[in-house]
Amino acid sequence: MKKFFVTIALFIITFQVFADEGMWLPMLLGEQVYNNMVLRGLKLTKEQLYSINKASIKDAVIIFGGGCTGEIVSNEGLIFTNHHCGYSAITASSTIDHNYLRDGFYAKSKQEEIPAQGLYADFLLKIEDVTKEIEDSAKGSAGDERAAKVQSAITSINNRYSDAANHVIGRVSSLFKANQFLIFVYQRYNDIRLVGAPPESVGKFGGDTDNWEWPRHTGDFSIFRVYMSKDGKASDYSPEDVPLKPKYFLPVSIKGIKDGDFAMIYGYPGGTNRYETSFGIKQKIEIDNPTLVKLRDVRLKYMFEEMKKDPSVKLQLAPSYAGIANYWKFYDGESKQLIKYHLYDQKKIAEQKFQQWAQDKPEFQNILSDWQKAYDAWRAYSMHRVYINEGILGSPLMAFASSLQQIELALVKQNGGDIKKLMDAAVAARKNFLKSENKISDQNILATITMMYYLEIDKNQRPVGLYESIKGSYGDLNNEDTYKKYAADIFANTLIFDDAKWNAFVANPDATVLQSDPAYAHASAYLKNWQGKYISFFQQFTARNNELGRLYLKGIIQMDPKKIRYPDATFTMRVSYGNVKSYNPRDAVHYDYVCTMKGVLEKYVPGNYEFDLPAKLIDLANKKDFGQYGDKQRNDLVVTFITNNDITGGNSGSPVLNANGELIGLAFDGNYEALSHKIAFDPVYNRTICVDIRYVLWCIDKLGGASNIINELKLVRPAVK
Ligand code: ARG
Repeated sequence: MKKFFVTIALFIITFQVFADEGMWLPMLLGEQVYNNMVLRGLKLTKEQLYSINKASIKDAVIIFGGGCTGEIVSNEGLIFTNHHCGYSAITASSTIDHNYLRDGFYAKSKQEEIPAQGLYADFLLKIEDVTKEIEDSAKGSAGDERAAKVQSAITSINNRYSDAANHVIGRVSSLFKANQFLIFVYQRYNDIRLVGAPPESVGKFGGDTDNWEWPRHTGDFSIFRVYMSKDGKASDYSPEDVPLKPKYFLPVSIKGIKDGDFAMIYGYPGGTNRYETSFGIKQKIEIDNPTLVKLRDVRLKYMFEEMKKDPSVKLQLAPSYAGIANYWKFYDGESKQLIKYHLYDQKKIAEQKFQQWAQDKPEFQNILSDWQKAYDAWRAYSMHRVYINEGILGSPLMAFASSLQQIELALVKQNGGDIKKLMDAAVAARKNFLKSENKISDQNILATITMMYYLEIDKNQRPVGLYESIKGSYGDLNNEDTYKKYAADIFANTLIFDDAKWNAFVANPDATVLQSDPAYAHASAYLKNWQGKYISFFQQFTARNNELGRLYLKGIIQMDPKKIRYPDATFTMRVSYGNVKSYNPRDAVHYDYVCTMKGVLEKYVPGNYEFDLPAKLIDLANKKDFGQYGDKQRNDLVVTFITNNDITGGNSGSPVLNANGELIGLAFDGNYEALSHKIAFDPVYNRTICVDIRYVLWCIDKLGGASNIINELKLVRPAVK
């Protein structure tokens, strides 16, 4: 009997040791988590992982461009990140004649590096716990009042820690669903330049077909550099600027990896919701995800038709297309995996357990029933909301038109002072809009979505009079042609596309001119209807959902106070640890932990939109010209590998480090079998997909001929035997 207990105890401990779940705050690594990392193979001290006084790994990890992660790999501020993170900058630097997106690009000297307008890099300076200050400011209040007080405390703390003149930005992050608050202070650098990228056929090899999937053969990397002013300060772009001298940069290991090796990933995971409820899962599966997917299907179809016809349209639409497609596939897969793993039922069981515990506790006993009511009250309007965001505003013309709403408001209110400023902003926004606008796809999107809205949204929720008037002028509302004619008229007559009419409006802004513009009238009919009647339901639901979420998690923590927890991802710096690891995705199928050049060639389809390859790559691969980057045992080049680390979107570009803290790859994706990972980490199926650093270096060196970049790195080579 005693032995039985010992075995159970051991099992629990081993389970804790071997569970790879968790996106940990590197500055608050508890002993237990750190000890687990050491047990798994880590050879570094805590100070080397994160230190406020000394240079440590955290100093080499940056927020790249506001949505990705990057890492510093040389003492001259060189950045590695993903190709899909540099995608907009690469595309923006490209023209039909110098098509860096298609052909790749390497600066052979610093003079050739291309300023990437709008890109920035944030370096983490420090973190402080501000929970007490925020709690104190909200003491004694509840509900909306509490939320407002918390928000105003956050704003004042952010302001106190920020210093715009010195490019210092403070941002409070609310952790554990607003049960803890930390301020993260960053140094922002705005002079970022493009240094290199492989051809798209390498950097996005496999396209959307292979996206979110393993096995994978994508060389998903790009290279940038951070610049600073001559006197060593963060600055906006200036030709006088010099490369950044970083506090720390990562050494790069070309020693290779084995199944089971320790792997650690630093980065900025954007968001997870591991304490999501059964109600939330039901809402996602039944309404939110399928509606989003259906609307994105339409947008993608029409965009792709035009992109494949014309390389200049491809350059114009590619970044926006990639973003829409990425989460179109994600949300479709998420629903499938949530269903497959019975996550609704699992959550129900957890909620029953919570309810039993909460039964006699007034603070917690009604949380779940209140939550159910909140979802019930919101459900009838929820599809409408997705239609506004993903459908109506999914037409770029409508998105731009709706941005003019503030001008209408200002004109109607006649507070003239603002109008000049608003008009200047609108003139600049219109320029950008026209640059990225493809009318044919947009007009098709507008027509189709106007009809889908008619067919799908509760007729009582429609904008009053809109469809009646379409019917009056264009015909049967169940006929596609009606909407095609209607959309064509909008596109032909709006002042947004007509320089003369637009300039006249800018010179003499007039509310009635705007109100009678067909594009503006269409957009504002939906927006005003939504804002006037329905948005308040969403606001009430969100406030309730946040408040109940906070209390629920507070209760969960009280229920089991000893459990070591990591906070949900909030686009703040995290570290996750695990191992390089193969897996079995389904019965009788085994997936190896690496993909190689052999597989790249197997997937090659000449001229295919997603699976074409550069001739030079094929030539080098056939000659097995892999140089110092090849894998001797395999007589091949490892291109990608997988680990069981816990990451999510935002981690793209993250450094994957070995036990010594040397760079072995860049994380760029998650696998299909674990697309439910925002809600629950699956220890059996979850994998992070990484591009092997040896493939990155091979692409730069052998394929790209940019040995200047290789020479900047600190390479760690295998010991010679
Ligand atoms: N799924 C990847 C992520 O979210 C993006 C991959 C980009 N590649 C592509 N084919 N869309 O980080």
